[in-house]
Amino acid sequence: MAISKRNLPLAIVTGAGIGIGEATALTLGKLGYRVIVTDILDKEGKAVARKINRSGAADFYHMDVSDTDNVNSVVAEVEKKYRKPFEVIINNAGIAKTMPLKGMKDKDWDWIHEVDLKGMMRLCRAAAPKMRKAKKGSIVCLSSIAGYTVGWDKHIPYSAAKAGIAGFTKALAVELAADKIRVNGIAPGLIWTAQALDPVHSMGPKMLKAAASGVPLKRIGTAQDIADTISFLISDKASYITGQIITVDGGLTGAL
Ligand SMILES: NC(=O)c1ccc[n+]([C@@H]2O[C@H](COP(=O)([O-])OP(=O)(O)OC[C@H]3O[C@@H](n4cnc5c(N)ncnc54)[C@H](O)[C@@H]3O)[C@@H](O)[C@H]2O)c1
Repeated sequence: MAISKRNLPLAIVTGAGIGIGEATALTLGKLGYRVIVTDILDKEGKAVARKINRSGAADFYHMDVSDTDNVNSVVAEVEKKYRKPFEVIINNAGIAKTMPLKGMKDKDWDWIHEVDLKGMMRLCRAAAPKMRKAKKGSIVCLSSIAGYTVGWDKHIPYSAAKAGIAGFTKALAVELAADKIRVNGIAPGLIWTAQALDPVHSMGPKMLKAAASGVPLKRIGTAQDIADTISFLISDKASYITGQIITVDGGLTGAL
């Protein structure tokens, strides 16, 4: 008997229009979730939802994780439309900008933290009440080796936010454990996406390619490497794992 698409479990992915978020959304679609694809990039997000809808189920919502009203209304709308809570939250949206300490403005620091760190709290705060009642769920937060393990030169706000995500993940895992909701994080290393390929605010293609030789597994990671780790963390195979940050970096930080 065919399962109605309306009955699929709900998964929401932030920043799902490109990069790790896109790979994750496509993977969750194949795993049988109704994927709520969200991003501030409408064209890219809609294209990802269309791709998933060829064989699975997805909806696109414009959602800026730095905007509390926007996050609250998307969560409320989806819960009402499908009459169920989210089962999976992937807190992926993130921005990295080069910001040396000299000349750093409060508003530049705040901007990174509003998106990278506080954005995760906004989505969890909006979706957790119904998840708690359902007594199940899994949340994955994208941290980074930059901040969690090492410091990234001239990226203090980013590194601080990513270290903060590790603390956020661990504390939330303790708070939600009684309601059988697991919360874990991933600290990716060098991953071949637009963020890392940005020559001004990150490494750029040339430097990224060259960096592969310093990675013990001798390659730059792919968005799919992270999506696959997320698939494991949300699966029953990880049912005893919560409050952990899993480093996925080809051995890079282990070799330092
Ligand atoms: N690429 C890497 O090497 C790497 C390494 C470590 C951690 N990460 C983290 O993984 C996550 C995904 O990174 P990526 O490499 O795919 O980046 P990316 O730049 O390719 O994609 C980031 C996505 O976040 C979205 N976004 C930005 N601001 C937003 C906002 N205010 N609201 C909603 N969405 C917003 C963007 O539109 C984009 O779709 C980020 O949190 C990033 O910090 C990436």
